[in-house]
Amino acid sequence: MKILSIETSCDETAISILEASGIFGDIKNPVEFKILANTLISQIDIHKEYGGVFPALAKREHAKNLIPILRKTLEEAKLSAPNDKSKNIWKPGFQIEEILEREPDLLKLFLEYIPTIEIPKIDAITITQGPGLEPALWVGINFAKALSLAWDKPLIPVNHMEGHLLASFINHKSKIINFPAIGLLISGGHTELILMEKFREYKKIGQTRDDAVGEAFDKVARMMDLPYPGGPEISKLAQAQREKQNISARSATIKLPRPMLNTDDFDFSFSGLKTAVLYLIKNLKKDLPAGKAGNSWDELPQEIKEEVALEFENAVTEILLKKTEKAIEKYQAETLILGGGVTANNYIRQSFESLDSQNANLEILIPERKFSTDNAVMIGMAGYFKYLEQKEKGQLQTAIDLKELRADGNLML
Ligand code: KG4
Ligand code: ZN
Repeated sequence: MKILSIETSCDETAISILEASGIFGDIKNPVEFKILANTLISQIDIHKEYGGVFPALAKREHAKNLIPILRKTLEEAKLSAPNDKSKNIWKPGFQIEEILEREPDLLKLFLEYIPTIEIPKIDAITITQGPGLEPALWVGINFAKALSLAWDKPLIPVNHMEGHLLASFINHKSKIINFPAIGLLISGGHTELILMEKFREYKKIGQTRDDAVGEAFDKVARMMDLPYPGGPEISKLAQAQREKQNISARSATIKLPRPMLNTDDFDFSFSGLKTAVLYLIKNLKKDLPAGKAGNSWDELPQEIKEEVALEFENAVTEILLKKTEKAIEKYQAETLILGGGVTANNYIRQSFESLDSQNANLEILIPERKFSTDNAVMIGMAGYFKYLEQKEKGQLQTAIDLKELRADGNLML
């Protein structure tokens, strides 16, 4: 079957079409996913100016981008055929206008494009319901509802975090997971340890008590005057320092705490670490010789930024590793699944990959870097499993049944 998936929870507008088949755990009929098309427009350059994602702007950009990327995705998947007007298969109706009432720009683009193509041969539409920024989520949901109504296709709301947890499935050959499994979700809004005793059954065993790990990366980057999103910037600096042959005497004095490293639970806390970075930077600036004109330092010199970034990345990685290993041991996990934007971090990936050699019975699944950060492929995969479940129970629904479907910025797994 073919699934069209839409993701607009934050600052990426993404649409993909997957060809999906098979059943989880069925050896004779294993799960297969093929990407027919995958399109993504990142708004990073627009939000950079604000040093973070600006929700009203994200909403406006999604509304502007959805139709152009839908067109591109359908064309790439060869599912776009001009509509034979004589068949008159689609008439704009009041309901579409009602659904897109709050998105006038999107409605205009929708009415210009959708009636010009034939109903594509897809079987379902999946959409991120949450968590995320509500104004951004709403645009995607309203768009998906309008498509479901216009094309009379089932509509499947998906949890963005389940998408992140399943993202490694696309490059996981056997498509089998041995349970129990531990999931570590590390993104801009979440840091969670999840226990999975069965497929698609999620139990949160630990989470951050304050900042998410991606958020900490972004905030620390801002303290060092690095552009948004800070994660990749910190990672680049840390990498440069890690590769240096000669390290300065100062770098040995740069030490940060590892909050909650040895606590008995599976919770995390990154806000203290972030504050420690703030004081560290202040002290480092104080110790610098005055600038040429006797002025104080607004910005740290590059080599010190690299040293701070390295210690920060080391601290975060050590905490994530230790808590995850403890969870693996306690629950005798046979699989570790990583998900979320921070899994794009090279050092974190390598550190988790090395758990493999220490633990022969553990399989480690990490998404390909391009599927670590937000994308629609992961939403399509999570949606496929939900579709199968709903179909079996005879519970498939279209936008007509899902009139009340709402964006949920805090949706839980
Ligand atoms: O999953 P994601 O794309 O969006 C959310 O659902 O939040 O994650 C975005 C987060 C941002 O905080 C970003 O700084 C972080 O992932 N990130 C990284 C790296 N690439 C993205 N953090 C550390 N190192 C990276 N290479
Ligand atoms: Zn995400």
